[in-house]
Amino acid sequence: MKTWPLLLLSLILTLNFSPAVANKNSSPTQINFTQQLPTTGNLILGVYTDGELGQFGNQINRQSEGGLQHAIKTTEFKAEIKSSQLITAPKATGLAQILLIGLGEKSAEQSNLVWQELGGYAAQKAAKTFSQIPSMAFDVNHTNTTAQVAFGAQLGSYAFTKYYTDKKRQTIQKNITIVTADEAATTSHYKQELSSVAEAIWYTRDVSNEPANVIYPASFVARWRQYLKDIKNITIKVFDEADMLDINMGAIYGVGRGSQRPPRMMVVEYMNGKKGDAPIVLVGKGITFDTGGISLKNPPNMWNMKYDMSGAASALGTLYAVAGRGAKVNVVAIAALAENMPSANAQRPGDIVTSMSGKTIQIRSTDAEGRLVLADGNYYGDTKYNPALLINLATLTGSASRATGKDYAPMFTRHDELVPQFIEMGKLTGDQLWHMPLNDNHFKAIEADIADVMNSGPDAPGASAGAAFLATFVRETTPWVHLDIAGVAWGSNAIPFKDSPGSTAFGIRLLNAYIKAHHENKP
Ligand code: BES
Ligand code: MN
Ligand code: ZN
Repeated sequence: MKTWPLLLLSLILTLNFSPAVANKNSSPTQINFTQQLPTTGNLILGVYTDGELGQFGNQINRQSEGGLQHAIKTTEFKAEIKSSQLITAPKATGLAQILLIGLGEKSAEQSNLVWQELGGYAAQKAAKTFSQIPSMAFDVNHTNTTAQVAFGAQLGSYAFTKYYTDKKRQTIQKNITIVTADEAATTSHYKQELSSVAEAIWYTRDVSNEPANVIYPASFVARWRQYLKDIKNITIKVFDEADMLDINMGAIYGVGRGSQRPPRMMVVEYMNGKKGDAPIVLVGKGITFDTGGISLKNPPNMWNMKYDMSGAASALGTLYAVAGRGAKVNVVAIAALAENMPSANAQRPGDIVTSMSGKTIQIRSTDAEGRLVLADGNYYGDTKYNPALLINLATLTGSASRATGKDYAPMFTRHDELVPQFIEMGKLTGDQLWHMPLNDNHFKAIEADIADVMNSGPDAPGASAGAAFLATFVRETTPWVHLDIAGVAWGSNAIPFKDSPGSTAFGIRLLNAYIKAHHENKP
C-alpha cells in the first residue's frame, strides 16, 4: 500500500492548520538617532509652555519666518505637559504635518521617568495620528534626556498584533528616529544603559501576552532560550519532571502533575561579576495557566490566568536587561513553571507533598499553587547559590491586587532595612511598591495539623500569609524580598508609555535599576 501520499497530506495539513504557533513574533522597534531634522513627511515636535520652542522648534520657526510660532498661536495650544496638537507644517519646512507635544514649563527640571513618559505619550499619540510614527524632535540637548525620551518611545510603540489577520491592524513600527544634538553620544548612552531594558520589557510582554495554548512550560523555556541566545556569559539549566523527582521537588511536581504539559524549572545564570561573589537570585512564579486545579476557579475571569507566569517572565526579563548591558554582576533567574489543571491525575485538596527542603505541605486549596512551585524554586535558589539577595516575583494572591490595585505591588520582607531602598527605586522607575506587614501571626496561620505547613487555610487567605509561606522556604539569614504582582502584571487600561492592553512586564525597570545601584561594580 502506498502510504506516502497520506503522509504528505497529513504533513500539509499540519503545516497549514497548526494553530497560532505559526504566527510570527514581532521584534522590538529599533531606535535611531540623527542630528538632522527631516525635510519631508511628518514630524513630532516637543514644545514648552509660554511660547518656548526649544532648540529644534526655534530652527523650524526661523526657517519658516515665524510660521511655527504663528500656527501655535492660532490653535491656542498651551503646551501643558502630556498634551498634543496637530498642525499643518509651515510650507518652508517641506514637512506635511507636525504633531506638537507639550513639555510643560522649560524651567521645571523633569526626572528621567517624566521624559520617558513624554516619549511614550508622543509615540502613542503619533501611532493613532499617522500610519507610522515619524521622527521625533524634543528640545533636549542633553544626551541622557534624549535617550530617556527614546526609551519611552520604544516602549510606547509596543503592540501585540500577531494574531490579527487584517493587515491594517497589524501595523508594525520597524524603527523610530529621534533627533538629537549629539548623535554619537546619545547612541552610545542608549546602547549602554537602556536598549537592553527596552528589549527585555518587549520580550517579557510578548511572552506574557501569549495564550496558554502557545506558552506552556516547555515552550516558555524554548522562547527564552531563543531570546537569550546572543547574550554573553549565560548558562541555562532546565529540570524536567524526572529531574524534579530525582531531587525531591515534590511541591512543583504536585502542581504540574494534573497537566498534559509537564512542569519545568528553568535556571539561567549570568555570572559576570567577581568570581565567587554571591549572586542576586530572582525566583518567578511561572504558572502558564491557572485553572485553580481541583479547587476550580470561577469561569468569567479565568482567561486572565494565562498571565499567571508573569513573575517568571519578569525574572528572566530582568536578567536579560542586566546581561544585555554587560553589567559586572552575578544574577540568577529561576522560572518555576507548571500548568495548574484539574484531571484524573491532578493533586487533591488534603494531599500532602514533600518539598525539596524536606518540609511537608498539606494542600488545602489546589488554587494556592504559586506558593508551591516557589517553595521548591526558593529552596533551590537559596541553598544552591547562597544569594546576596533573593527576590520573588509572583502573581500570588487576589488579596494583593484588591489591596493596592494597579498602582503598587505589595512588598514583603523579613529584612526591613531593604524597604526604603526598594520603595525609592520604585518611585524612580515607575514600578511602584507598597510595604506590607509580615509577622508571626502570618506564619502561625499556615501551620498545619498533620503536616509541617499548609498552603492555605481559614486564617490564611491573604497576601501576607502567602508571603509567610514563601519565606518558610528561604533561610532567615538570606536577605529576601517578595513582590506580589497580582494586581500590576497586566491591565486593560493605559499604563504610562505602555498604553497597550495586556502585560506590563512589571519589575524589570525596578530590579534592573536596583541591581545597578546596589550590586554592580563592587570593588
Ligand atoms: N494566580 C492566583 C492569584 C491571582 C488572582 C492573581 C487574581 C491575579 C488575579 C493564585 O494562584 C490564587 O489562586 N490565589 C488564591 C489563593 C488562595 C486560594 C489562598 C487567591 O488569591 O484567591
Ligand atoms: Mn491559583
Ligand atoms: Zn496562580
